[in-house]
Amino acid sequence: MKVCIVCFREPGVCFGIDVWRRTIRFGLEAHGILAPVIDPREVQLRDARGGLSVWRQNELLTGFNLVFNLLPDAAEPHGALVVESLIVPRGTIVNPPVARIKTSCRVRMLGSLRSAGIPIPRSVSVASAKGLTDAIDFCGGLPVLLKTLRGARGVGVTICESLRGARSVAQLLLARDRALILQEYLAYSGGADLKILASRRRVLCAVERRATARDEFRANVSLGATSRIVAVDDTVQELAVRAVTALGLIVGSADVIQNGGNAQVIEVNDLPELNLTIDGRSIVEPEFARYFVRHLLEDSAQEQGLAMSPTAHVVDGRWTRMAPEASDATTNILDAPGRSAE
Ligand SMILES: Nc1ncnc2c1ncn2[C@@H]1O[C@H](COP(=O)(O)OP(=O)(O)OP(=O)(O)O)[C@@H](O)[C@H]1O
Ligand SMILES: [Mg+2]
Repeated sequence: MKVCIVCFREPGVCFGIDVWRRTIRFGLEAHGILAPVIDPREVQLRDARGGLSVWRQNELLTGFNLVFNLLPDAAEPHGALVVESLIVPRGTIVNPPVARIKTSCRVRMLGSLRSAGIPIPRSVSVASAKGLTDAIDFCGGLPVLLKTLRGARGVGVTICESLRGARSVAQLLLARDRALILQEYLAYSGGADLKILASRRRVLCAVERRATARDEFRANVSLGATSRIVAVDDTVQELAVRAVTALGLIVGSADVIQNGGNAQVIEVNDLPELNLTIDGRSIVEPEFARYFVRHLLEDSAQEQGLAMSPTAHVVDGRWTRMAPEASDATTNILDAPGRSAE
């Protein structure tokens, strides 16, 4: 299987992308695959009779079965076309530019989830602070959440307890963006949610995040929440897989808030966090990296009717083995020195 990673050559543009790159390289090498890094700024797209082709100096880059799309801006057209031109027919892009663009905007993401019949909190997109009372009523009244169109580790999510608070926050957010989302506040979350890493085939790992600060309703680790790996029932697993699939992603994460048998999807991410944060330290366990990449290789091979190496260890089921208390004894692939000759 021919695999490549499309990303900027220099690390440090985005921490989450660096974690992906290290995790994927580690997992691929563990399966005997050396994947070239292709930086779209170093290649040309040439128009030929058969369509666009990608050239690095005089080398034609083509025929990849699996392309990891780790570009920071999925909407940038040159990078997106490079990604799409490298792949063979029926090959796998993790994740396709179109799916990433859809996922990165809350309005489009929530619309796709709703169209697929996936339960989401009542949400309204507004482009003006006029008529806010009606929108708040639609969301079930106060308190209500106001969210920017693009997520930023919980920072673009605000809670408004009064109409005048909502109006002034809406005006502030609209001075920056053209639209914002008002959303029903699910008070029963108690400041906790589930972040479920899923592929189009199955759940790979589920993490419960819980806010620790008093009165904090956002369960973002970057805002001090704790995280631990948990088991989730079949209904929630199915919901996460449906959410990821509804956006056209090969792999992603679904943030879910659960109240007894009632679970709602808050958000889907296209380049989800692959690290756990334990005692303020970001950790990716080597075994997780092997498991994660193995699953994506198998998924892609199955889709293209390719055979996987019979000697490779086949892992099945959900990742549950990393216990926080075991983390001290664990090798962290993020601690390994970066490789310069990529
Ligand atoms: N409708 C809701 N009801 C209750 N809590 C919510 C709701 N929406 C979001 N939250 C809380 O706020 C957190 C951040 O919200 P959301 O995931 O939409 O934003 P984000 O900035 O995109 O975060 P991320 O960095 O995970 O992408 C959620 O993890 C959840 O704990
Ligand atoms: Mg989120």
